[in-house]
Amino acid sequence: MMRITRTMQETDLSLVIGIESRAFSHPWPPKAFEDVLSMRPWVLVVDGILCGYIFYHTVLDEAVILNFAIDPDLQGKGHGEHLLSSTLELLQKEGFTNFYLDVRQSNASAIALYVKYGFLALGIRKSYYSDPVEDAIVMGKKLPLPERETL
Ligand SMILES: CC(C)(COP(=O)(O)OP(=O)(O)OC[C@H]1O[C@@H](n2cnc3c(N)ncnc32)[C@H](O)[C@@H]1OP(=O)(O)O)[C@@H](O)C(=O)NCCC(=O)NCCS
Repeated sequence: MMRITRTMQETDLSLVIGIESRAFSHPWPPKAFEDVLSMRPWVLVVDGILCGYIFYHTVLDEAVILNFAIDPDLQGKGHGEHLLSSTLELLQKEGFTNFYLDVRQSNASAIALYVKYGFLALGIRKSYYSDPVEDAIVMGKKLPLPERETL
């Protein structure tokens, strides 16, 4: 299996919007993807098939994951874990040390993945989501600064 994580291109948009509409009960509307290329989005391509994506924004030493999904037909094969871990690794190398995200309280598979990668529950946003209305758990993770490479 050949997994490639690469920057999302405009030509990936229709596939990404298709995955979004099938992966979430309340997907981002297509219009919300207009600015997505400015969010440093990554896609995961497995054996030539676009399987998932992750978008985040960064400020100071923080990175906030805004959206993350794997095609429902291709979940449970380690792709989500691969995309999350390669994103965290890249961001850590760039010097980001604080990571945050929101997740639906009932989203057991995503929460299990985040906990596996050391995210802790930091708080609750009451009734943050709709379709169905549900609280968000705010999760965060702190990483040490990468060791400086010696010349
Ligand atoms: C959350 C999501 C990205 C995980 O991707 P995935 O490719 O299905 O997950 P992986 O196969 O890489 O699994 C990695 C870990 O996730 C957790 N996980 C994945 N599926 C799970 C399930 N059905 N039940 C419980 N834990 C699960 C486990 O911790 C798993 O590690 P393990 O295999 O050692 O137990 C994917 O399910 C998804 O896109 N869901 C819909 C969109 C979504 O909820 N995005 C997150 C929004 S915050």
